[in-house]
Amino acid sequence: MADARPFHWEFTPEEVTREVFKIEGGVPLHGEVPISGSKNAALKMFAAAILTGERCRFTNVPEIEDVRVMAETLRDIGVVVDHPAPNVYEIASGDVEWLFVPLEAAAKMRASFMLLGPLLSRFGRVIISNPGGDRIGRRPVDLHVEAMRTLGATIEYRNGYYFATAPGRLRGTEIRFPFVSVMGTENAMLAATLADGHTVIRPAAQEPEVDDLIVFLTKMGAEVQRTYPDTIEVVGKRRLRGAEHHVIPDRIEAGTFAVAGAVTGGQITLTGAPCDHMTAFLDVLGRAGVLATCAGDRIAIDGRGVADGAFRAVDIETAPYPGLPTDIQSPTSVLLTQAQGTSTVHEAIFEDRLEWLTDLNRMGASIDLLDKHHATIKGRTPLHGAEAEIGDLRAGASLILAALAADGESTIHGAHHVERGYENIERKFADLGARIARLEEGTVSSSS
Ligand code: UD1
Repeated sequence: MADARPFHWEFTPEEVTREVFKIEGGVPLHGEVPISGSKNAALKMFAAAILTGERCRFTNVPEIEDVRVMAETLRDIGVVVDHPAPNVYEIASGDVEWLFVPLEAAAKMRASFMLLGPLLSRFGRVIISNPGGDRIGRRPVDLHVEAMRTLGATIEYRNGYYFATAPGRLRGTEIRFPFVSVMGTENAMLAATLADGHTVIRPAAQEPEVDDLIVFLTKMGAEVQRTYPDTIEVVGKRRLRGAEHHVIPDRIEAGTFAVAGAVTGGQITLTGAPCDHMTAFLDVLGRAGVLATCAGDRIAIDGRGVADGAFRAVDIETAPYPGLPTDIQSPTSVLLTQAQGTSTVHEAIFEDRLEWLTDLNRMGASIDLLDKHHATIKGRTPLHGAEAEIGDLRAGASLILAALAADGESTIHGAHHVERGYENIERKFADLGARIARLEEGTVSSSS
């Protein structure tokens, strides 16, 4: 078994090239756009791959920064990660040598905490950085940690790191979450696959990415089943084997492009889109008067009504799946600026996902932030080009949508945030006729 070697580790933010999107808005988008593989599925499969020493192969992996960060984090602990072709990754973790996940990885990406369950379960110990730390605000992982303790691990928290040990195997048990957590469910599930005995996880997240992970784990020889919509049961195995998997399409990317088609008054078709995973969002589009038609894995969006004021206000509320995803709330908010009447937005999952809406006001929107979880959007307001700074991934994509719908030129700083989760976003928009360019403007710290 490999050594866990704690050492004093100094965090130095890495420098990234600072880039801007320049967008000349007001062009209706037309054509077809292929939907990439799901970020939130692919990242968890990479974590699952370290449950075995055998080689795992993934296709339809999105070419995005978060995937590159996860690949790099795995390489740093001694895992072999090959990238033999675009969108294809192979992972072999026969020789994990360093059971330590540093702050550098955690600060770049919260999903690095997904390594806790598999490393602990397979190797019996791990030292892993708190992805929240004190540096990037309150982003708790208490549910993950408690789930591991319930499975029999001992976990201490010192100097920003969790020191987790589980001599022998983890023990199957009942894990009761106080509320639904996507990665909490997934971490518990991964840990339980190698535990001794039967684990019941409840309430378990119902996101399609969790089910895709179950499909992959089953191919690895794990015994994992969703026995009720909110319950996952796992019977632990001594060993798992290597497996191959084609990652499901990204429903959030699909929703983002759907809004782009609508707010620019265009006509676009999303190909390879996960229509079945998008019911709540497609329902909002329907209520807003956007014509959206699903046929197999194609979704046709007709936004031509926008100019005639055909879009209607809608009240939206985010919720765990099958509710409206929080990740699609910000693109949907851009759509609601183009709807007649007053819409209300209730962001029920996170506390920091409405603040960016004030940037939309500077582009001509009329939005009132009532508190951290509620806003009203009065429409329809024409949008005009502006300069804006991207604060996070989903808000960044949404600023691009607003700029595409706006009259005139916009300069959107902080393009690297969007690269975290959208494959070739500017090329995909350009292929739909958008006037968009990505230009270099200097270097900044990656943690900014
Ligand atoms: C995942 C997704 C993210 C999505 C979110 C909700 C990935 C990589 N990320 O994040 O894109 O927006 O689901 O659909 O899959 N919480 C705690 N303690 C914990 C864990 C979570 O209090 O230990 C809270 C969170 O602050 C939040 C709520 O629980 O308020 C739900 O978060 P969770 O479902 O865990 O989100 P993630 O899995 O981190």
